[in-house]
Amino acid sequence: MMDQMAYITRIIPQPGLDLLSDASLAIQVNPEDRTLSHDELLRAVSGKHGILCTLADTVDAAVIEAAGPQCRGIASYAVGYNNIDIEAATRRGLPVSNTPGVLTDATADLTWALLMCAARRIVESDALMRSGRWRGWGPMQFLGADIAGATLGIIGAGRIGAAVAKRASGFGMRILYTARSAKPDIESSLGARFTDLDTLLCESDFVSLHVPLTAETRHLIGPRELSLMKQTAILVNTSRGPVIDETALVEALRRRTIFAAALDVYENEPAVAPGLAALPNAVICTHIGSATVGTRTAMALMAAQNLIAMLRGERAPNCVNTQVYQR
Ligand code: NAP
Ligand code: GLV
Ligand code: GLV
Repeated sequence: MMDQMAYITRIIPQPGLDLLSDASLAIQVNPEDRTLSHDELLRAVSGKHGILCTLADTVDAAVIEAAGPQCRGIASYAVGYNNIDIEAATRRGLPVSNTPGVLTDATADLTWALLMCAARRIVESDALMRSGRWRGWGPMQFLGADIAGATLGIIGAGRIGAAVAKRASGFGMRILYTARSAKPDIESSLGARFTDLDTLLCESDFVSLHVPLTAETRHLIGPRELSLMKQTAILVNTSRGPVIDETALVEALRRRTIFAAALDVYENEPAVAPGLAALPNAVICTHIGSATVGTRTAMALMAAQNLIAMLRGERAPNCVNTQVYQR
């Protein structure tokens, strides 16, 4: 395959790059430790036979067009693919792949880390300790929310949502969930109960988002939904930023109509809504859901395997637009 050249938009763990080289594929990797601008991406993909991109690259119709007719597929280094114009790729007959499953546990673990940080005010307590101003133990210091025995509401009980729910059983939690279809597995194994969104928001002490970003889920959580939540409730988001109306969330946190939020993702990454970063009741991470050595290595290998299949003209194992194989 040495006559075929793939473009890799960011440096990824070496085992993934090694796999591509072992498949006798010529690769060109963006050497810089940053996401390319849209113009740079247009230039970089031009004439390439395959593209390995990240969730931070906007792979729109223009990028797909710029790649050219010789391009045989796009392998994304992420499970969420809202950054890629799937319809435009499908129209061109280009397969697009993602990395499902291998990052489920790491993302569920990070969700729990965020949930616990917000409930027990760990970031605020850590900041006080570092400031040197802590005066010693106090009966009313940093009072947070109980986790054991509380109600957890999972919005989007797919791979990651179910893994988050599974972890809750160790805390003796009551579990509510929404999805497009009922999930008998978690109902029988965890006692999880399917509800509509409003019931889940009204009854949950913790609300955790695990839906993909689509036209239906954009601003799924807005002012009305936030107002349905308990004043003691905590909102956790490790899905995609635009699932929450971030400005409305800042307002709810500021007015304390909910207790706290813990976020890994934002509406306009890397920016955050004005005021969010100054709120003591917000825990804010830098989109690190899948960021473990083992998980990122597994993602690199999976993305590389998909890209190799595409360039060999074989079916990509994790293709998200399988219609391209039906013609
Ligand atoms: P998944 O298995 O496809 O699960 C998505 C769930 O959302 C499914 O249960 C689906 O319901 C449900 N859903 C979709 N549209 C819905 C709607 N309109 N209303 C209610 N529920 C809806 O995906 P996953 O692997 O768990 O990943 C979920 C998302 O997490 C990804 O798309 C990505 O954006 C995000 N993510 C973020 C990080 C991070 O670093 N923070 C890491 C990994 C993933 P059905 O099952 O009934 O279709
Ligand atoms: C990370 O956000 C992913 O979708 O893989
Ligand atoms: C707290 O440290 C306690 O012993 O209750």
